[in-house]
Amino acid sequence: MTAGPADRPQPDDRLSSLRGARIVLGVSGGIAAYKAIELCRQLVDAGAHVSPVLTKGALRFVGAATFSALASEPAETSLFGGAHPIPHTRLGQGADLVVVAPATARVLGSYAAGISSDLLGATLLATRAPVLVCPAMHTEMWQHPAVQENVATLRRRGVHILEPLAGRLAGGDAGVGRLQEPEAVVAEAARLLAARATAVSRDDYAGRRVLVAAGGTREPIDPVRFIANRSSGKQGYAIARAAAKRGATVTLVTTVALDPPPGAEVLEVETAAEMAEAVLSRAPSQDVVVMAAAVADFRPAAAAPFKLRKSDGPPELVLEPTPDILAELGRARRAQVGKGGFAPVLVGFAAETEDLVERAGEKLRSKGVDLVVGNDVAAEGAGFAHDTNAVTIVSASGRVDVPLASKREVAEAVLDAAARFFDPSTPSIAPEKESQ
Ligand code: C5P
Repeated sequence: MTAGPADRPQPDDRLSSLRGARIVLGVSGGIAAYKAIELCRQLVDAGAHVSPVLTKGALRFVGAATFSALASEPAETSLFGGAHPIPHTRLGQGADLVVVAPATARVLGSYAAGISSDLLGATLLATRAPVLVCPAMHTEMWQHPAVQENVATLRRRGVHILEPLAGRLAGGDAGVGRLQEPEAVVAEAARLLAARATAVSRDDYAGRRVLVAAGGTREPIDPVRFIANRSSGKQGYAIARAAAKRGATVTLVTTVALDPPPGAEVLEVETAAEMAEAVLSRAPSQDVVVMAAAVADFRPAAAAPFKLRKSDGPPELVLEPTPDILAELGRARRAQVGKGGFAPVLVGFAAETEDLVERAGEKLRSKGVDLVVGNDVAAEGAGFAHDTNAVTIVSASGRVDVPLASKREVAEAVLDAAARFFDPSTPSIAPEKESQ
């Protein structure tokens, strides 16, 4: 008897991005491979087109026939001898998402090292789709520095890792290393596909020029010492990358060397004065200027030309204010209002440890800018050096809260808010300031 419509699982709206998505499901050789059978079934039930790829190790735990029966395409198990002449690139190139569950220490290691000794390895290297890796192994293996370094390498390259859970492991042991439940893997797969659909469809910055200042400035005390701050530059780079992906021509004025977006103009600077020169000279030709940099407010009035000696006792540091680049931009723009000249959308940051929204609002008015991204640097997982951030974006017409999210997601939200000013009817703070 065949199942009637009433017996079929009801579609879940949160999983709608899975409908019609082409997913390669990589299964490697751990006891958790049995859970991949349920995962495969749930992905197919949600409407995904699933191509299973089983490693040699996986075949010792589960059968290819099981996956072939459940999935949309027969399970592939080898680089050679299948129906297709070039399976090693075909699967990866055609995928919307690659999910590896369970991923063994071997798979993590070969993927991080760029080794493609089997079909799954080749698929992972050939794909440009998002990749979701769900490791599962014994706690000791998971915690080994080599495995953790491989995970960190993959993360840096943009691979999504769904960390294993604590619980019962094979052989009666307990600890961290259990594969995430199929429901959690399916939900994460749906989230990644939904995020990709949004990113791919946006080209609202096409033909726009965006300048981003990133990193913390260093103000010399003498030839070897300087005054610095904790800024990592990660949020600024995330904004530069997101703007480039949305079609912008990007200029990055930076004190740190991270991965810039391909094609960006990168200007390396060190001090507030150098940053001011680079930003102010280029701002007139920009559509958006984002001051994500942590610019020193004060610098030594005169850097010693030689190394200060400890034996001379503590130096007396006389400090003087640095140029406030953002305020300068706000002033220059106000002077131009009505003349049709210099009018980029201006975005500032406010790193605060208390009264975030009030202070961000004050900065908005005092500097005459369009948006201030308030950043609670004291919050768990947010601010300097983290890969995540939590911000409130304040403008003349209201605020948008972005709870703890990746710096890439925060970047998208900042660009969304800035893009609203491309519509001339969006109220800006700057003209109001002028009439006061
Ligand atoms: O006044 P405060 O330093 O708190 O303002 C932070 C914002 O102003 C950031 O966007 C920062 O990049 C910018 N800023 C600047 N020049 C300075 C100090 C801060 O452009 N000298």
